[in-house]
Amino acid sequence: MTDRTIGYIVGSISSTSINRRLATALERLAPEGTTLVEIPIADLPFYSPDHDADYPQVARDFKQAIADVDGVIIVTPEYSRSIPGVLKNALDWSARPWGQASFDGKPTAVIGTSGGGIATAAAQQHLKAILSHYNAPTLGQPEGYIQSLPGLITEDGEVTDQQTAEFLAAYLTAFNGLVERVLSSREVVAA
Ligand SMILES: Cc1cc2nc3c(=O)[nH]c(=O)nc-3n(C[C@H](O)[C@H](O)[C@H](O)COP(=O)(O)O)c2cc1C
Repeated sequence: MTDRTIGYIVGSISSTSINRRLATALERLAPEGTTLVEIPIADLPFYSPDHDADYPQVARDFKQAIADVDGVIIVTPEYSRSIPGVLKNALDWSARPWGQASFDGKPTAVIGTSGGGIATAAAQQHLKAILSHYNAPTLGQPEGYIQSLPGLITEDGEVTDQQTAEFLAAYLTAFNGLVERVLSSREVVAA
């Protein structure tokens, strides 16, 4: 199988983010031949259509980073039953300028963790609706609702529960499958 590079976006800029820990865990669990790289969003200013004529370099870099990877995993907390504003802001940058939407056709997956029992399910439904609008093929199953119990993932991304580690590895394998299906169908069309 071809080596693949998968980008990930962390929808939290908290210095103690449990979703960043989850992203680090995914990085560690990536299957052979798959490299996970972060696509940072913390330095993006607020999006405004005023920027459309001349995107700032940081936003150009953000869009280029999405273009450079084979797929994107969005790892996000839930804020007030939706996604955090910092993530929505990044997605707004991705969607413009008109006709240059970064997620159009880009394989994506969403996953998240919170201490609560619903484990970001409501936020992920909102996020999937946004990605659908962008025409991004999105992983349907398995769904990545990770309840963040104390000590589940260490600061350096080690998953202490075997069942959770196996689930995350299976999740990454399933996403690889989606990426391969999307990219190989594109190669057939191009041939
Ligand atoms: C403004 C705000 C709104 C939140 N709303 C929810 C929510 O709707 N559902 C939920 O499960 N947790 C909610 N939380 C708790 C977060 O899931 C928790 O703070 C989590 O640690 C955030 O992820 P992070 O550590 O990766 O930043 C909220 C937290 C904040 C700060």
